[in-house]
Amino acid sequence: MSRRKLIAGNWKMNKTAAEGVALVTAIKEGLPAGADALPEILVCPTFTTLGAVVEAAKGSPIEVGAQNVHWAANGAFTGEISADMLKTTGVTHVIIGHSERRQYFGETDATVNQRTRAAVAAGLVPVVCVGETLAEREAGKTMDVIGAQIKADFAEMTAADMATVVIAYEPVWAIGTGKVATDEQAQEVHAFIRKVLAEMFGAAVADATRILYGGSMKPANAAGLLAQPDIDGGLIGGAALKAPDFLALIEAAR
Ligand code: PGA
Repeated sequence: MSRRKLIAGNWKMNKTAAEGVALVTAIKEGLPAGADALPEILVCPTFTTLGAVVEAAKGSPIEVGAQNVHWAANGAFTGEISADMLKTTGVTHVIIGHSERRQYFGETDATVNQRTRAAVAAGLVPVVCVGETLAEREAGKTMDVIGAQIKADFAEMTAADMATVVIAYEPVWAIGTGKVATDEQAQEVHAFIRKVLAEMFGAAVADATRILYGGSMKPANAAGLLAQPDIDGGLIGGAALKAPDFLALIEAAR
């Protein structure tokens, strides 16, 4: 089964609307001709920048996603946003359960599960993040931690629900640190995630689900990671904020 690679930029809390438009315009203009050979391309700006970036990306293959979504349709949830509200901006994807949300904002596997199910129900593609901390890796608990996250994050979901889901493996110790996982370390975890998916949802879902690597991915290390059999793209932070770097990552995925 061939899985189309996905190169996704997580802009985090960076870029005003004007700066976001400038960045997406530079990416759009820098894309090589012949969209067929391109990976799927996604950028995920802040909420206030979504509409402007969707507008600027029009006429290009660049898709736009948000960085969080609430599970309720509306209500007394100050600071949150619903899937239907996101959809009015034109976004197609949403990042869920990023380690920064887990670390700083009390995100748990239970809330990741609720957000993921709401996104799927609304027709948004969830990009669900999992990853171990340095202490967990050093204690030899990586697979236990990742396995538990996958089981809890996709609990009570069906194979049909999983059809559009994208997973991002992001070792916490590699995010924004410049310490990238080796090709072998990443491949080992990606293959393990696929095995857990097969146990939960069957071989077809495991085979079709795209699993991205994230954590200090940059043009210099992308080729080796993207050549691994179970690595289907990247979720990129720092290197997604500069058009030449992001374009080089797109090129590496071709
Ligand atoms: P980084 O961030 O590429 O800056 O390490 C990746 C992420 O957090 O998604």
